[in-house]
Amino acid sequence: MVNIGVLASGRGTNLQAIIDAVRDKRLDASIRVVISDHPGAGVLERAKGCSIETRVVERSGFPTKKAFEDEITKVLKERGVELVVLAGFMRILSPTFLDAFPMKIINIHPSLLPSFSGLEVQKRALEYGVKFTGCTVHFVDKGMDTGPIIIQAVVPVEDGDTVETLSARILAEEHRILPQAIELFSQRRLRVEGRRVFADGRPGRGPGDAVENPVALIFNGG
Ligand code: GRF
Repeated sequence: MVNIGVLASGRGTNLQAIIDAVRDKRLDASIRVVISDHPGAGVLERAKGCSIETRVVERSGFPTKKAFEDEITKVLKERGVELVVLAGFMRILSPTFLDAFPMKIINIHPSLLPSFSGLEVQKRALEYGVKFTGCTVHFVDKGMDTGPIIIQAVVPVEDGDTVETLSARILAEEHRILPQAIELFSQRRLRVEGRRVFADGRPGRGPGDAVENPVALIFNGG
């Protein structure tokens, strides 16, 4: 069981996938709060429709990025969030925020990292001419889309693909692997060694639970 907080800026289909996985008992998690930086984001309606607490925290409402992130941290901590899930959150988080949740922030990205980090990645994958792309769930570190990879799924690029058709094929896989990654975290099965993440840890202590001892963090699978 894990208490999660979801940060999202958009329509929220990945939030919906998490909600569905919890409902179907494929995922042992409690969604404590959904936070969006956009008051009109569809993700808020999805959450409200399922009686999940929502909060709008707009960057424009705070004098500094730090104050904005401190407010998000406060909301998450007050609700006992153990894992922060970035599900289409369109902002780069500062090291201070990351330090508040060490190895406890994951992101879903619609490409096979390290290819096509950043924005408009389905369009860029099509233009590049790759035959396969996909999606990645990874821990968030101080770089952009650079953290240790938890799960990836491969998606073929078809000759007739447009950005829309390719994005839809990738999205279906996002909806499959994001709840899976959260469930692995929930079961404390993830073991992190440098950049490599192994899902072979016995249920028990998980990433971030031993941050006061970095050696234990590296060898926390036993
Ligand atoms: C997804 O494609 C995700 O990979 C990216 O942002 C999009 C969010 O979609 N980070 P949704 O709001 O979950 O539908």
